[in-house]
Amino acid sequence: MRVLTGIQASGKLHIGNFFGAMKPMIELQEENELFTFIANYHSLTTSKDAQTLRQYTLDAAVDYLSMGLDPTKTTFWIQSDMPQVLELYWILSKFTPMGLLERAHSYKDKVAKGIAANHALFSYPVLMAADILILDSEIVPVGKDQIQHLEMTRDIAIKFNNEYGEIFTLPEYRVAEEMATIPGIDGEKMSKSYGNTIELFMEEKPLQKQCNKIVTDSTPLGEPLDPESCNVFALAALFLDNEEKEALRERYRSGKEGYGHFKKHLKGLIWDEFAEAREKRAYYLNHMDEVRDILDHGAQKAQKIANAKMERVREAVGLL
Ligand code: ADP
Ligand code: TRP
Repeated sequence: MRVLTGIQASGKLHIGNFFGAMKPMIELQEENELFTFIANYHSLTTSKDAQTLRQYTLDAAVDYLSMGLDPTKTTFWIQSDMPQVLELYWILSKFTPMGLLERAHSYKDKVAKGIAANHALFSYPVLMAADILILDSEIVPVGKDQIQHLEMTRDIAIKFNNEYGEIFTLPEYRVAEEMATIPGIDGEKMSKSYGNTIELFMEEKPLQKQCNKIVTDSTPLGEPLDPESCNVFALAALFLDNEEKEALRERYRSGKEGYGHFKKHLKGLIWDEFAEAREKRAYYLNHMDEVRDILDHGAQKAQKIANAKMERVREAVGLL
């Protein structure tokens, strides 16, 4: 299956992003033809300034490559390195009724949050449709908030196909099985906006400090602890198989260790899990030219498909 994923880069990734989004996405490359791009044209609609947008875009590229996105298996590029989507976006605009865009929840939510209403924000779903349709994507994994955009993409494609024949493949969305929400250091959902995250690439000492801040109850040292109500346990469990989880539960119940021990243990798990990724990341950060090469190569591969599709589209609508 041809699977397309678009990544909105928004800064430093945390453990919640990794288990909730990044890991399941990277796993798709094993059994599918995976196309993944960093949606920087889309990020432009909400970006603060040029330097931040540039930095977030490259950081996301480095982070995904470090975490195991394999450029020999996955076509990986930056959206703005394939400007063909902008031409398709214009053409598709003609097949996008105003009413369709006016009903978009995501636009209304953003405006309600105080983001200035402008044309890019309003027509965001049309560009997303172009991203998807230009590559004949069959499956598009998305979060729940993006389902409506996929429905709009299908509506636009159907309108176009009705007029010009079967030019676009109708994509289907996949919503990943609801991953249990990963708690932050305060026990609420881990999220950048709550300031309760554990970032993926921290130095060892700050990582331990952050683990030490995880909120626990005040059972004194020497008494049995309840693993099921403990945030430290919930986070550690992400890194353990069933047997290891059971062994950790036993340690909690034995009453021989306190939360301090388990926070150290958790730090060790995080540190070890991302050891290889950390090394790769250090390598890529020192070889940004290689990262650019990977992205350029990906853009060329995607462009080949896009160019063939655009030839048919231009012909169909009568652009010389
Ligand atoms: P944040 O809440 O930190 O701003 P985003 O909204 O940018 O994170 O989320 C990016 C992706 O990571 C989404 O697909 C989301 O489902 C996933 N994700 C974020 N936080 C968590 C969490 N605590 N548990 C599970 N998945 C998460
Ligand atoms: N709108 C998506 C998001 O915010 C990102 C995105 C842009 C995308 N173009 C796409 C996702 C095409 C999938 C396919 O997450």
